[in-house]
Amino acid sequence: MSFEQEINKRRTFGIISHPDAGKTTLTEKLLLFGGAIKTAGAVKSNKIKDHAKSDFMEIEKQRGISVATSVMGFEYKDVKINLLDTPGHKDFAEDTYRTLTAVDSVVMVIDCVKGVEEQTQKLMEVCRMRNTPVICFINKLDREGQDPYDLLDEVESKLNIKVRPLSWPINMGKSFKGVYSLYDKDLILFQASRRELNNDTLKVEDINDPELENIIGENDADQLREDVDLIESVYSDFNVQDYLDGKVAPVFFGSAVNNFGVRELLDTFIRIAPNPKPRETDLREVSPFESKFTGFVFKIHANMDPKHRNRIAFLRICSGKFERTKAYTHVRQDKKFKFSNATAFMAQQKETIDEAFPGDIIGLYDTGNLKIGDTLTDGEKATYKGIPSFSPEIFKEVINKDAMKTKQLEKGLKQLMEEGVAQMFVYEMGSRKVIGTVGALQFEVIQHRLKHEYGATCDFVPLNMYKACWISCDDRKKLDEFVKSKYRHIAQDKDGKLVFMAETRAWLQMVQDNFPDINFHFTSEFE
Ligand code: G4P
Repeated sequence: MSFEQEINKRRTFGIISHPDAGKTTLTEKLLLFGGAIKTAGAVKSNKIKDHAKSDFMEIEKQRGISVATSVMGFEYKDVKINLLDTPGHKDFAEDTYRTLTAVDSVVMVIDCVKGVEEQTQKLMEVCRMRNTPVICFINKLDREGQDPYDLLDEVESKLNIKVRPLSWPINMGKSFKGVYSLYDKDLILFQASRRELNNDTLKVEDINDPELENIIGENDADQLREDVDLIESVYSDFNVQDYLDGKVAPVFFGSAVNNFGVRELLDTFIRIAPNPKPRETDLREVSPFESKFTGFVFKIHANMDPKHRNRIAFLRICSGKFERTKAYTHVRQDKKFKFSNATAFMAQQKETIDEAFPGDIIGLYDTGNLKIGDTLTDGEKATYKGIPSFSPEIFKEVINKDAMKTKQLEKGLKQLMEEGVAQMFVYEMGSRKVIGTVGALQFEVIQHRLKHEYGATCDFVPLNMYKACWISCDDRKKLDEFVKSKYRHIAQDKDGKLVFMAETRAWLQMVQDNFPDINFHFTSEFE
């Protein structure tokens, strides 16, 4: 197979949802279709249930599971699918945001009873930042949910994206009979007890065929024809380009646990979802079809085995072919490295690979050289954009509890931050260290891991802090003046970028008014 064909056959995507909407279940069904697993129940949910918030075993288990299911590669109808897992728990949202920078498209699962939930809205905003194409799968149609038309309206208004149904449910709840594929114009009947993959696709060439009444009954046949008429007249024809541009989200209905509507989703997905596309670096746009290798690290897993301080860096290949025997340039350090035991993730197994292509995710064993956001190339000094840090929500100061273990604490904090567990800001004054996170859970994770992996103990003192604002100014002198006058509130992030720590919204506003030449940003990446 040619290099071009390898790229064109790849679909790298992530499934996102509010917890409990059915992400794990859908993942499992897709793997079953891909033949990557043989039985249901093989994919463990990596979610942390609320009641387990302070259960450290649960956190550790979650880390173990999420390495195994971080990336699931499989083939379906000659298409190489790379499915990237995203944590559903909101405290790990930052991890999900970073994973979304490594995908080319997204499938969003929505519970038909609950409709669009909070986490779904947040994730959609992240997709919009990069115009990532989104397909919606409205799940649990075997339950009495909201009216499908209302659900479509809700998706449009709450997620702020136009929708286009590509399948349509025949009833729901107890009388759910199946979904009609508006894309392929065929009908799949629902048999709730079937847990196996079923091939009972009844091809209905013409929806007006009287045979339809015999299959689903007169009332439902009439209703379906009416619905299809209405959809075709209300919604304009599905335009694949609008989907690829992130302007329209095709919508599928189904029931993941019953395996319904999943095949329609997958069959359409492999036809319309994007193969790897060009990506922006700080110097230029790089096409996946370029022969020279480039890629970036979007996730790091460390210390899975406490005896060996090994880490796995997850690298998304953006262009060229990765070869195991070649040395590549680590742009930030300007050094060359060889990764002779790079692994691919096929289903739940890791296996050593000789080569990999754009769109693929590979695991690189690392002893501490790679950080999230690092770019590897075949020599070029370009760095991929698109892994911004967002201002955290919760801020706490680190207090060392054991002066004898200061070094261990420093090392542990540095490594955990490199892994992206949280963000650390070091004040210019007095080197105070402040950890910022999205949720409360991370503080427990940090304390636990510092103790067990580094032998260090620390306390966290909550701070009243509104936002961490990355600052910039065209005039270096003015920036220096600002830093001087607000010295006590200036810190550095992990990359040494200057951050203004704003305690309240009102105060930030006042400072902004007083220093109109200074730009304040809530994310670390700005133009
Ligand atoms: P998540 O990863 O998005 O958090 O959701 P997950 O797949 O774990 O699904 C959440 C719950 O919803 C599970 O039930 C799952 O079985 C159920 N579910 C998934 N798809 C459907 C569907 O199409 N219809 C119905 N009725 N339920 C569905 P659970 O009780 O939390 O776990 P389990 O014991 O069933 O595994």
